[in-house]
Amino acid sequence: MSKKITVNPVLQAIMNEAPVEDADRQEYFIAIAKKEVERLKKEAGRDMTCCVNTFGCQMNARDSEKILGVLEMAGYVESQDEHADFVIYNTCTVRENACNRVYGRLGYLSTLKKKNDYMKIALCGCMMQEEHVRKKIHSSYPFVDLVFGTHNIYQFAELLVMALYSNYQVVEVIEGNEKIVEELPIVRKYAYKSGVNITFGCNNFCSYCIVPYVRGREKSREPKDILREIEKLAADGVVEVMLLGQNVNSYGKGLQDPITFAELLREVEKIDGIERIRFMTSHPKDLSDDLIDVMAKSKKICRHLHLPVQSGSSRILKIMNRHYDREHYLNLVKKIREKLPDVALTTDIIVGFPGETEEDFADTLSLVREVEYDSAFTFIYSKRTGTPAATMPDQVPEDVVKERFDRLLKVVQEISEKKAMVYEGTDVTVLVETVNEQNPALVTGRMSNNSIVHFPGNKELIGTLVSVHLDECKGFYYLGTQN
Ligand code: SAH
Ligand code: SF4
Ligand code: F3S
Repeated sequence: MSKKITVNPVLQAIMNEAPVEDADRQEYFIAIAKKEVERLKKEAGRDMTCCVNTFGCQMNARDSEKILGVLEMAGYVESQDEHADFVIYNTCTVRENACNRVYGRLGYLSTLKKKNDYMKIALCGCMMQEEHVRKKIHSSYPFVDLVFGTHNIYQFAELLVMALYSNYQVVEVIEGNEKIVEELPIVRKYAYKSGVNITFGCNNFCSYCIVPYVRGREKSREPKDILREIEKLAADGVVEVMLLGQNVNSYGKGLQDPITFAELLREVEKIDGIERIRFMTSHPKDLSDDLIDVMAKSKKICRHLHLPVQSGSSRILKIMNRHYDREHYLNLVKKIREKLPDVALTTDIIVGFPGETEEDFADTLSLVREVEYDSAFTFIYSKRTGTPAATMPDQVPEDVVKERFDRLLKVVQEISEKKAMVYEGTDVTVLVETVNEQNPALVTGRMSNNSIVHFPGNKELIGTLVSVHLDECKGFYYLGTQN
């Protein structure tokens, strides 16, 4: 470390005067950050820019909107480019390659920082909850100015001020998610759709998964807070909400007045202005008949269920600690298909879990053939330090896993292509999301079942529901015309 660590007396005074109560405290720090950013702007003779780069899942995407909310309130101007004055990576550690991407880019950020005296670099998100990562950042990447964890988002204004006034690496990581802080400023990425957290953390401890360790125990938000947030979003022009949780089906457990996920959905359905409701992720062990009923009766809940199976082998599912077996899963799919014949089913599958034999893998292939998923995310098992699976015997050799992975992908793709053809020639409702990047004469949107549709149109259509005739299926998307 080349820099001398000194605690800035100005920062000391700022900290001493900070209010204790959360909301007042963060407001106080936003005001201070604003003044400092204003000063930096004058000094540099230009705007101060910020860039938030998000890795991982929808939880992180939502957290990034909160981070950007604070940065914009402080006076930063958003830039998509990492040649910015405040660059923050919101990291994911679910698989090793997600971490390697972050380490890989840090070297590049350091070269940018050498050319820009104003530049601050921050790292947050799931990787930062791991001690070995923080040690590595401290020793190998000392140019990083700020490190904080998944439970510190609500303190971001304070952390930003600390980073702006310090010349050393500020590290703040809370280990457990004791509280839920409501009403943070948020800058939504899209005007017409938004994620809404309903639970935080996870209690399931699937034996391969790091999420419960980095996101803490499962906690549900109060229904009134969720509904108020969605009402506000609707008033603000949002037509589609995505309810977010690692296992939305266990929503409501542990609240003072327990409520089920199905009951919550009934309430969300009543909110005027909301046209589409999606949710992620459903754990098969907790998916209730009531939920299937609510979906069947609903006009707003999208015809899409993401139902991660992970493996088709009951033996492996047991060691994965998933709390269901192949038979339970297939029965569930049968029930869903009976009541929701037009639902798109998607899944996550892990290949090469420790001890997976050719026979276990054959069970996964046969389950995929039986269910006929509309699409599936397939992952090569990644060893995560601290999880039970990391120390299990019989880790499967890389070449065997790769070969199985390729076989699975082929089957998944064949089925997806076949399933996608089904709607060719029909009329469907599409929520328009963007102007097509390749061809500006087209707009791109999604059907209720999440399929992508391109059709001629202009940006005025963004955020509206449009009736479209699907002329042609192109494998993973449709080309259509507005009716
Ligand atoms: N809570 C969600 C999943 C969150 S993680 C659920 O339970 O469905 C998203 C996906 O990453 C998981 O479904 C799993 O398929 C995959 N995954 C998690 N840990 C993994 C690991 N160690 N190696 C490979 N894939 C993993
Ligand atoms: Fe991970 Fe399992 Fe929790 Fe999903 S349910 S986040 S896979 S531990
Ligand atoms: Fe990754 Fe954290 Fe999500 S580990 S998948 S960003 S909860």
